[in-house]
Amino acid sequence: MLKKIVVLTGAGISAESGIRTFRDSNGLWEEHRIEDVATYEAWERNPELVLNFYNQRRKQLYEVRPNAGHLALVELEKKFDVHIITQNVDDLHELAGSKKVLHLHGELKKVRSTVDENLVYTLDGWELKKGDLCGKGSQLRPHIVWFGEAVPMIEPAMKLTSEADIFIVIGTSLQVYPAAGLLHYVKRGTPLYLIDPHATVPGDIKNVTLLRETAGSGVPKLVAELLK
Ligand code: OAD
Repeated sequence: MLKKIVVLTGAGISAESGIRTFRDSNGLWEEHRIEDVATYEAWERNPELVLNFYNQRRKQLYEVRPNAGHLALVELEKKFDVHIITQNVDDLHELAGSKKVLHLHGELKKVRSTVDENLVYTLDGWELKKGDLCGKGSQLRPHIVWFGEAVPMIEPAMKLTSEADIFIVIGTSLQVYPAAGLLHYVKRGTPLYLIDPHATVPGDIKNVTLLRETAGSGVPKLVAELLK
């Protein structure tokens, strides 16, 4: 059986593709307030503002490409059973060619019904408008997990994490729960790698190797090492 590598990624892995992170200087949350664009209350109060915020993000997705970080993770599949758990709503892991990608916080290119969360569609093009309806006649919303909403994919993510033989964390500030809490599900003794220019060892976690560099340079190095 192939060894299982589980990779937790955040906005930092897509930074070198040109997508802004959230909490770095010049991050998205400097320009937008979470309460205005990324909560269900915001959606009820001002759906146009919320639609516009995600439309702009979605539009950009059609202009960006995976970078060396995303691509290196695909190489790992030659020798390992690789599972990516991403907090990102972009599709750059899929575009790069990664086969098993779990999206914790939703997917920008998808939209869903506001009356039936199981009615999920891939949007044609980048723009979701007021008046765009699901099959049951209700307004479509971005397929995004907003702050305060449940994170349905956390259960399978916890299971995967607990089965990892190697765990890799790339480009996340580990500020947002429950995603950040996944680290506590890594089996004791499992080698853990952190790739992020600002990486610090989270509190009580053991067996950590820090690579304080960008994903574009750090991930290919780690992958080459693991494939040796
Ligand atoms: P953050 O913006 O909080 O953190 C980005 C991390 O990427 C930081 O630790 C940076 O140091 C690092 N970074 C920046 N450039 C990098 C590079 N070139 N290579 C590697 N790392 C780099 O983003 P996330 O941790 O992903 O959720 O944020 C988590 C969640 O908060 C997001 O999924 C989003 C956001 O609000 C929702 O919107 C639901």
